Amino acid sequence: MSAGSALELADIQYRIGAARILTDVSLRIAPGEIVCLIGPNGAGKTTLMNVITGTVQPQSGSITWQGRDVTRHGPHHRSRLGLGRTFQTSYLFDQLTLLENVALGAGGPHASGFRGLLGIGANARHLREQAGESLEMVGLGAKAHQRVSSLSHAERRKVEIAISLVSGADMVLLDEPMAGVSAEDVPDLVELIQRLATPTTSVMLVEHHMDVVLQLAHRLVVLHHGEVLAEGHPDDVMNNREVQTAYMGEEL
Ligand SMILES: Nc1ncnc2c1ncn2[C@@H]1O[C@H](COP(=O)(O)OP(=O)(O)O)[C@@H](O)[C@H]1O
Ligand SMILES: [Mg+2]
Repeated sequence: MSAGSALELADIQYRIGAARILTDVSLRIAPGEIVCLIGPNGAGKTTLMNVITGTVQPQSGSITWQGRDVTRHGPHHRSRLGLGRTFQTSYLFDQLTLLENVALGAGGPHASGFRGLLGIGANARHLREQAGESLEMVGLGAKAHQRVSSLSHAERRKVEIAISLVSGADMVLLDEPMAGVSAEDVPDLVELIQRLATPTTSVMLVEHHMDVVLQLAHRLVVLHHGEVLAEGHPDDVMNNREVQTAYMGEEL
């Protein structure tokens, strides 16, 4: 690993049949950095998050996390190593409480999550404690025992963030965290995401709202047709002619 990188992707290639979904993608994220991944619809942003978290295996290239080659590690293993994530579409259980949802997410259905939820197994109490702390961290400690069905969109997004944090994440990947969130709740979520980034925890987010991107991003990475078109300081990237052309006809 190069000095200062938490995550390093080198020459990632991912194809589905003849379609090149990601081509030669290389990037680094430093500890504590907030990187926004932007690009037109279909550019490959969600796929890139899947590659980083291990739900998709690239045909070639490597993924190094905290100095360790995790290219062949599965998603649960990577999550245990501190790579947390949220998904573009909501995946919470409406009829369960916030605490139950987060406890389930902590172990994952293949690990101790269900046992923890049912209160069996030696680590059930530990799991619930961790889930409670994670909910406190996103400001929902007081609602831990309410059902998820009673929450606003913004609160649901916060529960999803709590799940991504619960196994002790050193990096969180957020796929369109503002989707479905009403305008008046956006500043609160922006503040939460800022708070997630600490000297040791990095954040990578996919976001379409440019005002949000510009408030949060230390650095922008622009994907276009599965390739990194530009990266760097937000001001420089936004003024890049190629980026402006790529976005023609789309809201930037
Ligand atoms: N499972 C799949 N099968 C076929 N094509 C896919 C699959 N997943 C993604 N793609 C294609 O890969 C490209 C990138 O998709 P995606 O990563 O979802 O883009 P983004 O998140 O930037 O909108 C799109 O052209 C999409 O149609
Ligand atoms: Mg997407």
